[in-house]
Amino acid sequence: MKLKNKTAIITGGTSGIGKATALLFAEEGANLIVTGRRADKGKAVETECRRKGVRCVFVEADHTRLEDCQRVVDATLKEFGQIDVLFNNAGIVTKGTAESTSEEVWRDTFDINVTAVWHMCKLVLPHMKERGRGAIVNNGSDWSLVAGRNALPYIMSKGAVGMLTKAMALDHAREGIRVNAVCPGDTFVDRWMEKGYFEGSDPVKIEEAIREASEYIPLGRFGQPEEIARAVLFLASDDSTFVTGHLLLVDGGNTAQ
Ligand SMILES: NC(=O)c1ccc[n+]([C@@H]2O[C@H](COP(=O)([O-])OP(=O)(O)OC[C@H]3O[C@@H](n4cnc5c(N)ncnc54)[C@H](OP(=O)(O)O)[C@@H]3O)[C@@H](O)[C@H]2O)c1
Repeated sequence: MKLKNKTAIITGGTSGIGKATALLFAEEGANLIVTGRRADKGKAVETECRRKGVRCVFVEADHTRLEDCQRVVDATLKEFGQIDVLFNNAGIVTKGTAESTSEEVWRDTFDINVTAVWHMCKLVLPHMKERGRGAIVNNGSDWSLVAGRNALPYIMSKGAVGMLTKAMALDHAREGIRVNAVCPGDTFVDRWMEKGYFEGSDPVKIEEAIREASEYIPLGRFGQPEEIARAVLFLASDDSTFVTGHLLLVDGGNTAQ
């Protein structure tokens, strides 16, 4: 029960890494505010977390809107009266080179992957400062540290998350607020199947395609959302009281190559 009597906000908790983190945090005793745009999925996560014996409220929110970010923070303080942990997880993946990326894709990527992270931090800071404590965990990427091909807007945005994390860690260290980032490598989430990354109806062939696609990773497989969630728990809990400004790679060894 590493988060007993703590309250956490998880942005983008309707699926993938955010959902896995919500479930793990619930097992560790945290009361939760889970956000996202898909209310049906958010309500299902809310129900699953409550079954684990904690209080959990889903707040439908589009974090590209400042007013929605404000509503999430207000709802948390109204419901629980405190914010111990903010997990800035909501994000989108976009493709393109400097040449092929459109203005719209650039803006959309930065709106959610960077500006929303800053907005949420800005909104929880006065409360955390007043209490003299708080842990912020941002979801970066292995691409917060190294680059890749044909994903320029995404890589730029995750690079910015890395530096926002370090700069905020310095600015707020003496206020008792720790700021870190989890930096996942390729992690298999449902969205990949929804996006049609692995097509077909034969589960054996899909399994084989997934295995082949993950060959480049030293550990020989994609990560699981639950494996990223455990790293987020470390950064959010008192297990990491002397850790701030850290970008924690959870990438199966990919960036060691
Ligand atoms: N999977 C990977 O390989 C990987 C690797 C490195 C980093 N990451 C990072 O992990 C984070 C989570 O992604 P995931 O892989 O778990 O994929 P996912 O299942 O697609 O999760 C993305 C989450 O973000 C939410 N979201 C997106 N735009 C939003 C908006 N405008 N307002 C509110 N919520 C929004 C989505 O909720 P709604 O759709 O309900 O709004 C969803 O809950 C992202 O920041 C991603 O960059 C993932």
